[in-house]
Amino acid sequence: MFQSVTKAFTVLGISAALLATPVFAEPIVIKFSHVVALDTPKGQAAEFFKKRGEELTQGKVKIEVYANSSLYKDKEEMEALQLGAVQMLAPSLAKFGPLGAKEFEVFDLPFIFHDYNDLHKVTKGPVGQKLLAKLEPMGIKGLAYWDNGFKSFSANHPIKTPDDLKAKKLRIQSSKVLEEQMRELKAIPQTMAFSEVYQALQTGVVDGTENPISNFYTQKMNEVQKYLTITDHGYLGYAVIVNKKFWEELPADIRGQLETAMAEATDYANKIAKDKNDQDLEAVKASGKTEVTVLTPEERAVWRKALIPVHDKMANRIGKETIEAVYQAVGFVK
Ligand code: LMR
Repeated sequence: MFQSVTKAFTVLGISAALLATPVFAEPIVIKFSHVVALDTPKGQAAEFFKKRGEELTQGKVKIEVYANSSLYKDKEEMEALQLGAVQMLAPSLAKFGPLGAKEFEVFDLPFIFHDYNDLHKVTKGPVGQKLLAKLEPMGIKGLAYWDNGFKSFSANHPIKTPDDLKAKKLRIQSSKVLEEQMRELKAIPQTMAFSEVYQALQTGVVDGTENPISNFYTQKMNEVQKYLTITDHGYLGYAVIVNKKFWEELPADIRGQLETAMAEATDYANKIAKDKNDQDLEAVKASGKTEVTVLTPEERAVWRKALIPVHDKMANRIGKETIEAVYQAVGFVK
């Protein structure tokens, strides 16, 4: 059949080579869904990846980025990835537990990282790679870690000591470690999709929450939270993940170009994350709507002491081996 069609086209002066390489081939589409604003470390890195990925593949790949939960909310986006309705996501590391990858909740342990330098010893090293490999049986391939920042507590009443959060309803991401963290403070944890947090704070469904400042500011939480205390008590960042089957079935040259674009986007994300959080803290202060409290080292030590027991309590869930591997990588001392 193909031969007779080829022959007919050859008669018409069209070469078989042209037939074999369609000139107007449709681009491969990558739908990349995420839940934060454009002007955040993740939002900017996703745009960077789109630009570089399309450039390097010379239009053979079209990358559609859907920001701000405009396509899917937290839980739905994980399901959509596994079903192949989207190809790429960058969920917070706190959102892998419900998939069964409980080891990722090691990143949620309070005070486990002193700073970005500590964090990178994990995300840029063998421990981070080993964790990403755990996603493969779930049909997911982990491509990279993207930084965001360290979380602080906010509420509509002043927060100075752990006691100030007692009996308060606090929104958390879907992580059992974060649930335990709030229980340790005698607070009431409320798991909720990111897209619903602003309204929940506005209507008083929850009293407060924890966020890196870039998320706090770009979701306009400063309009609905009177107090923000810089506790830096835990880390929030991302794993960029793709549908494994989709990724492995890409032509090797295209996959290689996308890997290059991802490596560049990762450098970019990790370069801008701290600055973005610092700038947004200044913007929160300038807005005059939220009073910002910076703790002294002694005051912060009280929070650390209150929250460190979460490590042992969650050891069975996360896995002692994973916690030990992170402790070793960062030289953690209790
Ligand atoms: C949250 O739900 O608070 C964060 O995971 C949102 C995000 O993606 O940074």
